[in-house]
Amino acid sequence: MQTLERARRAWIALALPAMGWFASTRPREATPEVLRQPPVLRNTSSVPGIVEVTLTAAPARLRLLPGGPLVNVYAYNGSIPGPTIDVREGDSVIIHFRNQLPEPTTVHWHGVHLPADADGSPLYPIAAGTAHDYRFRLGAGSAGTYWYHPHPDRRSGFQIAMGLFGGLIVRAPNDPLAAAGIPDKLLILSDNRFDSTGAVAFPDPKSIQASIDVENGREGNVLFVNGQVMPTIPIRRGEVQRWRVVNASAGRVYRLALAGQRLVQVGTDGGLFEHPVDVPDVMVANSERVEFLIRGTGEPEHGAALEDLPYDRYMPQTRPADWDKTRELLTLHYTDEPSVRPPEIPSVLRPIPAFDTTHVAAHRVIVMSQGMIDGRQMDMQRVDIRSHVGATEIWTIQNVVGMDHPFHLHGFHFQILDRGGVPEPIRGWKDTGNVPKHSSIRIAVRFDDYPGKWMYHCHILEHEDEGMMGILQLR
Ligand code: C2O
Ligand code: CU
Ligand code: CU
Repeated sequence: MQTLERARRAWIALALPAMGWFASTRPREATPEVLRQPPVLRNTSSVPGIVEVTLTAAPARLRLLPGGPLVNVYAYNGSIPGPTIDVREGDSVIIHFRNQLPEPTTVHWHGVHLPADADGSPLYPIAAGTAHDYRFRLGAGSAGTYWYHPHPDRRSGFQIAMGLFGGLIVRAPNDPLAAAGIPDKLLILSDNRFDSTGAVAFPDPKSIQASIDVENGREGNVLFVNGQVMPTIPIRRGEVQRWRVVNASAGRVYRLALAGQRLVQVGTDGGLFEHPVDVPDVMVANSERVEFLIRGTGEPEHGAALEDLPYDRYMPQTRPADWDKTRELLTLHYTDEPSVRPPEIPSVLRPIPAFDTTHVAAHRVIVMSQGMIDGRQMDMQRVDIRSHVGATEIWTIQNVVGMDHPFHLHGFHFQILDRGGVPEPIRGWKDTGNVPKHSSIRIAVRFDDYPGKWMYHCHILEHEDEGMMGILQLR
């Protein structure tokens, strides 16, 4: 186990020279900051069960690198990440959205089950300088960690890289972990790349770097948690914390581990599992969420790093040279405050009934190749799959190329039946499933409501923007 001091020095030695902006100046010892929670969006409605908020996307000048300059960004309500939308099952949510960007955008409520016209898909662009109200109601059982981000045609990668992403938490009235007194924290993971002036860097479209980005998804060398670089999270002896982790990165996939302890995973994209599961590490592909518990079991005044372990999702030709390096995201700091009595971790979280697959309306095979789904690029005028409300379907998502593609379906949670033929050991509600190179996963989904057009796509943002997306129409 590393001491805080050692962890901090190791980080400065490794990470700072890698950031262009720091190269010219000698880094001073950065004092680690405590992880902040993004501000919670204020509910302006006084009617019980109605949440009314205002969200504005606009250009801003913010400091992204610690000690760095103010740079041009896009931000929701002036902060990166944007404010957290913190709501409850049963709430009717009204979001007064204003687009003050110099370009069209949308707000997509990633993972939320809602009407198609409220989904913020590329079919419903919000023009520059205009406003739009998004309305949806959060059903029973929808509690989970979600996030919101722009989804305009071909510009999602750019707008998210510029700073547009935020968390959305739906809470259950009877959350067993909250009832056990376990506090939760939101951790939004992102990465970014900067030029020598400290500005967010995008490659010249004709450069080799641009084609590598299209291949891998744009990865940055600076890793952020809630917009902070290598913050600390204090924990007391005996304390248990629930971390809700969102991967908002365009291309980077995280394999999270905490030095010195195993993780107790309690949930995934669409909320809690049935039971907690003890794991050594947990993968979070692009747009996925995980929830896990961590414990205050370390030596007082020592730190343990939350690590991103190597994971090879790449084609050999474009695999970064340092792909096999472990990176650090934050330090868990065991404080010397008086210990607290450890809470009882509930062994039962909530029921997740398996889909009834005795009557399956359709079995489909969806083939992901580089930049294409079923051999085609997305066409907004085309419908790729037709089905109807009430149908239960089984989809085999096949990846026929030599890099991973995380498959995302809008609007409906699915259950992963198997991965590479291996039955999925833990049932959970998913909206994204990583499909490793040259393999396939099988998912079951039920279209219980909400006719309309729904996107499905690879969630590597550059792949999505390049057209690795299809449209499902439900009648
Ligand atoms: Cu995060 Cu089309 O989605
Ligand atoms: Cu989505
Ligand atoms: Cu992809």
